[in-house]
Amino acid sequence: MNILLVSGSLRAKSNNTLLMHLVSKMEFPDLEFIISNPVSDLPFFNQDLDSEENVPDSVRVWRKRIEVSGGIIFFTPEYAHSIPGSLKNAIEWLVSSFEIIEKPCMVISSAPNHLGAERANSMLQNLLVVISAKIYKNLSVCIGSINKKITEDGFLQNSETEDIIKQSLLSFIKELNKIKQ
Ligand SMILES: Cc1cc2nc3c(=O)[nH]c(=O)nc-3n(C[C@H](O)[C@H](O)[C@H](O)COP(=O)(O)O)c2cc1C
Repeated sequence: MNILLVSGSLRAKSNNTLLMHLVSKMEFPDLEFIISNPVSDLPFFNQDLDSEENVPDSVRVWRKRIEVSGGIIFFTPEYAHSIPGSLKNAIEWLVSSFEIIEKPCMVISSAPNHLGAERANSMLQNLLVVISAKIYKNLSVCIGSINKKITEDGFLQNSETEDIIKQSLLSFIKELNKIKQ
């Protein structure tokens, strides 16, 4: 089974993207992590383009990646107490095409302050519920003080954080396996 990893940050030195790469290197039996194209590849959602003839190629690729994934893990920062516009835009492209319906999703967020982007995390979960993705409320992870926990080359210096991520991933994978059976 493959799990799609999506980062909501476009920043070159993004901590959330570093976390995504860190997760992509973790090994679990029968599981492959696929890193999605940056959400900035997608044009702004425009209903006029949302038809079989007009839909941009980048949107086709995005929708296909979602469709073939066994689950999705979103990594999000928080801007102005909300999720990044680029991530909201990527999700808007999924509303009419249905690939994300019943798709198991998990949200990991991080921020330099102690809250760990929890408002963005919870908003993203609510948004995913609205578009009928499958969310497991107890499995989201908010990592506060991320700047003190991760090095510039993506090495987690805090074993407690690494354990929390691993445990949540294991629980997520358990849920995915229940669906597969
Ligand atoms: C325009 C702007 C708005 C921000 N708003 C918030 C916010 O509401 N809450 C928060 O925790 N951090 C906020 N931040 C700080 C981000 O959490 C921080 O820049 C973080 O490193 C971004 O994530 P990244 O490292 O994955 O790019 C904001 C930063 C910017 C530039």
